[in-house]
Amino acid sequence: MMKKYYKKFLFTKPNRLHFASHSLHYWPDISEVGHHQAWLDTCEYSDHKWGHFFQNVFPQTQKLIANHLGIKNSQNIAFAPNTHELVFRLLSCFFEQDKIRILTTDCEFYSFDRQVRRIAEWKKAEVIKVPVMPFETFVDRFSEAAQGNFDLIYFSQVFFNNGLALNENDMTKMVDANSKAQICIDGYHAFCALPTSLKNLSKRIYYVAGGYKYAQAGEGLCFMSLPENCQLRPLYTGWFAGMNELSGVKKDLVSYPDDGHRFAGSTFEPTPFYRFNAIWNLFKKDDITIKSIDLHVKNLMKTFVAKVASQKTLLDSAILLNTNEKKRGHFLTYEFSNEEQAIETIAFFEKQSILIDRRGTRIRIGFGAYHDAKDIQLLVDKITINQPISLVS
Ligand SMILES: Cc1ncc(COP(=O)(O)O)c(C=O)c1O
Repeated sequence: MMKKYYKKFLFTKPNRLHFASHSLHYWPDISEVGHHQAWLDTCEYSDHKWGHFFQNVFPQTQKLIANHLGIKNSQNIAFAPNTHELVFRLLSCFFEQDKIRILTTDCEFYSFDRQVRRIAEWKKAEVIKVPVMPFETFVDRFSEAAQGNFDLIYFSQVFFNNGLALNENDMTKMVDANSKAQICIDGYHAFCALPTSLKNLSKRIYYVAGGYKYAQAGEGLCFMSLPENCQLRPLYTGWFAGMNELSGVKKDLVSYPDDGHRFAGSTFEPTPFYRFNAIWNLFKKDDITIKSIDLHVKNLMKTFVAKVASQKTLLDSAILLNTNEKKRGHFLTYEFSNEEQAIETIAFFEKQSILIDRRGTRIRIGFGAYHDAKDIQLLVDKITINQPISLVS
């Protein structure tokens, strides 16, 4: 149904079976038009391109994102080339105090996890991690822990290393457990994949995500929506946050704008904004919604899981971690009992020109808008065991 939007990626490598959509989702052809428009605008506007960009392109991206997430005030959305920069900016708001008390989970992406471990080494942070497993009790355990005294509470909507997803009720319960701390949700594995409404939550939380995965727009476009009346003063701040000071009016204290620019950095590459706008404007025009993509992908995942369960495949010795269809993102995570088995399995996939990825003992198989039932059958056929295959046991 949607293959027609991805002709360039699909025709460039027709034999590649790409099942890593959770990593780099194929880009729709229209993204190339957006990409080129960025070049044309630089030709036309030269040094004035930033004026054009901030007046026309940037607010369009903000509005599209706000619309996807049900955020009322699109101007409260800040941008950076990656989430790390935005989250570090948030962490830096606490650097003037002796210690940052952080509550998080044991399944956060490396970007955040590594950074807070390093700050903890510096003795500037105390980090408490709630285990995500067993997942059935996670929301209750996390909500109980969140009642403590924390500066920052940070968790993912979909966990990157198991594909388990929190729904809106879960997130609301976890957010409501603490009325004082700053709360940040890492929505990277949900943004443009799972229909998400932050209508009630966006006033209270920071929500961080980006363009590289399901938003299909490639690198360089990450964002963070700020809660209402955010008055934090990032220590790590760039001159794009101080545009109102450029006229020469200097105050004693560094001043910050009252919108998303509060968390701005410095000069960045604007091309990804053009790609994102071109894609999601076209999808809007053609009535392709996140809900319709999600439905399509979830159906394919369901078919795959059912087929794998009914025959002998390479995945037989692995355990599917995200079994509950209602609580999973757009990738399936299979866990092997040891890393060698996972490495051997992924090598087999690669030999068959199937692209997936691995995190330790786990392999992740991601499904995207450009797959159809035939691709699923092909994938299953390729991993079905008709003759003995030697795998490390
Ligand atoms: C959950 C999650 N958050 C964030 C990121 C990206 O982090 P960054 O933008 O800092 O590279 C990823 C990338 O895979 C991720 O899986």
